Amino acid sequence: MRILGVLCLALATIGCEPTSAPPADAAPPFQITAPIEEIMRFMIDPAADSIWGSVVTIVTDDGVEDIVPETDADWAALRGHAVTLIESTNLLLMEGRPVAAEGSVSEMPGVDLEPEQIEEILAANRPAWTALSLALSESGTQVLNAVDARDLDALLVSGDGLDLACENCHIQFWYPELAGQTRATNTN
Ligand code: HEC
Repeated sequence: MRILGVLCLALATIGCEPTSAPPADAAPPFQITAPIEEIMRFMIDPAADSIWGSVVTIVTDDGVEDIVPETDADWAALRGHAVTLIESTNLLLMEGRPVAAEGSVSEMPGVDLEPEQIEEILAANRPAWTALSLALSESGTQVLNAVDARDLDALLVSGDGLDLACENCHIQFWYPELAGQTRATNTN
C-alpha cells in the first residue's frame, strides 16, 4: 500500500490520480448569493420598469407628450432590459435559492406572506413555480422579439403580457390572501 501510495504521489503529475473532473451527474457549481427577494428588487423589477416606461404618454398642462424609443441607443438599452429579464428567470429556477435574507419580514403583514410561508408553498409547489418562471421567460421573449422588430404596438402588447406573468406568480406565491385564495399548502 505504502509503495503504491508513493508511486501514486510520484505519478500524480502525469495522471496517476484517476480523475479530478466531477462525475457527470454532480450538481453544477453555481454560487447562490442573492435571495429571490433581491433577484426581484435588483434585476427583474428594474428591467420590467424600464420596459414599461419605454412607451408612455404623458399628459401635462402644456399638452400631451409621447415617449417612445427612437435612437439605436434607446433600442439597444431596451434589448438589454429584455435580456436581463429573460435570463433572470433562470436564477429563479435554481434549486436552493432562499426566498429572502435571514431576518427579512413581510412589509405588509396579513397581505404579503412572510418569507418562511413562501418557502413552504414553494417547497410544496415546485412545478407551479417552474411553470410561472418559464411563463415569465416566455413573456420576456415576446418583449425581446418586439424590440428586435422595433415594433411599438408589439412592445405595448408584450408589456401587458409581462405584467400578467408577474401577477400570476405573485398571486400564488406572494400574496395569495389578497386573491381570496386558500393557501396552496392547504389545498395540496
Ligand atoms: C415565479 C414567480 C414570480 C414571478 C414570475 C415574479 N415574481 Fe416578483 N416576487 C415573487 C415572490 C415569491 C416574491 C416575494 C419575495 C419576498 O419579498 O419575500 C416577489 C417579490 C417581488 C418584489 C418585492 C421585492 C422586495 O424588495 O421585497 C417585486 C418588486 C417584484 N417581485 C417584482 C416582480 C416583477 C416586476 C415581475 C415581473 C416582471 C415579477 N416580480 C415576477 C415571485 C415572482
